[in-house]
Amino acid sequence: MARLTILEFPDPRLRRVAEPVESVSDRERQLAADMLETMYHARGIGLAATQVNQGVRLLVLDLSEDRNEPKVFINPEIIARSGSQACEEGCLSVPGIYAEVDRADKITVRALGLDGEPFEMEADGLMAVCIQHEIDHLDGKVFVDYLSPLKRRMVEKRLKKQKQRDAEAVA
Ligand code: NI
Repeated sequence: MARLTILEFPDPRLRRVAEPVESVSDRERQLAADMLETMYHARGIGLAATQVNQGVRLLVLDLSEDRNEPKVFINPEIIARSGSQACEEGCLSVPGIYAEVDRADKITVRALGLDGEPFEMEADGLMAVCIQHEIDHLDGKVFVDYLSPLKRRMVEKRLKKQKQRDAEAVA
């Protein structure tokens, strides 16, 4: 397994729309394993392939307290949604920034598993938020896109400052 580099907003590569996986092979299984390792190390709860510069529709997540219930979705598709909820979101590609986003409260998602078999899953609460957030990444969207232009500019400024400080600390 290998840890991968996570792209950070506003990297233009986060805007790429990912391609569907044609058939699930060892390549996807290796990518999923590497993404899970990367996500656990960064203490995240979800990660999309787009965030590690891989243009395929694959995402991983784990919402369990003990970090031992990894879930992998390949070619995920939301086939039903209802209700709404506002949840404070963060993102490994937008470090240190948290903001409330409106999402569907309940969803049904269809995807392929690592065995290449299709499955359907219903999700609500944080699980529903996480899946919607990660599928957005596969479509080239980042959660800060939902903020007002003013708030988004503030986020960009803050991240720039953060990066400058990090660079100075290294120099
Ligand atoms: Ni994210």
